Amino acid sequence: MSRGDVRLTHPTAEDGPRMWRLAGEAGMDVNSPYAYTLWCRDFAKTSVIGYDDAGRLASYVTGYVRPDSPDTYFLWQVAVDSAFRGQRLARRMLDFVGDGFADMGLRYLEATVTPDNTASRALFASFARDRDAEIEWSPLFTGEHFPQEGGAPHEPEELVRIGPFGEGTSQERA
Ligand SMILES: CC(C)(COP(=O)(O)OP(=O)(O)OC[C@H]1O[C@@H](n2cnc3c(N)ncnc32)[C@H](O)[C@@H]1OP(=O)(O)O)[C@@H](O)C(=O)NCCC(=O)NCCS
Repeated sequence: MSRGDVRLTHPTAEDGPRMWRLAGEAGMDVNSPYAYTLWCRDFAKTSVIGYDDAGRLASYVTGYVRPDSPDTYFLWQVAVDSAFRGQRLARRMLDFVGDGFADMGLRYLEATVTPDNTASRALFASFARDRDAEIEWSPLFTGEHFPQEGGAPHEPEELVRIGPFGEGTSQERA
């Protein structure tokens, strides 16, 4: 299969069902199709999708600016189709949103990650390292916050907080 170049852009409502499908294929917590479609309508500016040359959805990031903390971007989900992993696509998506942080007055990125998600933890560490930003991990949600219908209990979700960003860019804006 040819992977081609992946072009990054912001989603529209038409991308919602494809994101829902990729969430399932990537083994993530899957929200409803409605949630993804609504997300694409209301949080397009802080979300990213990647399409390959053949028009296949390769990746997405959903995120928002926290209403109670307007200098903080919360990255809700990041997913890369298994055929496209290990090619720095997730990093490109984080850079795509991160490059807009200064203009949006954002100084921190937050996300939650389960303790066993090595790839995701490495992704956030990589982003912090390359932006010369501090990275802090702390407990946030326990498994009890995520009731399951039978099956294995949900893992806890640790908060990762990266920043502050923008020490250099504030001079450019001044
Ligand atoms: C996490 C995920 C998005 C990473 O996507 P990716 O495009 O393969 O990641 P990248 O190629 O951009 O790699 C970014 C960094 O993470 C590291 N990394 C990626 N996958 C890794 C793995 N499996 N193990 C260790 N490190 C890994 C890379 O080496 C790179 O770090 P570096 O800059 O220090 O070299 C992808 O594995 C995925 O979709 N997983 C399933 C969904 C998921 O768990 N999402 C996160 C929870 S919301």
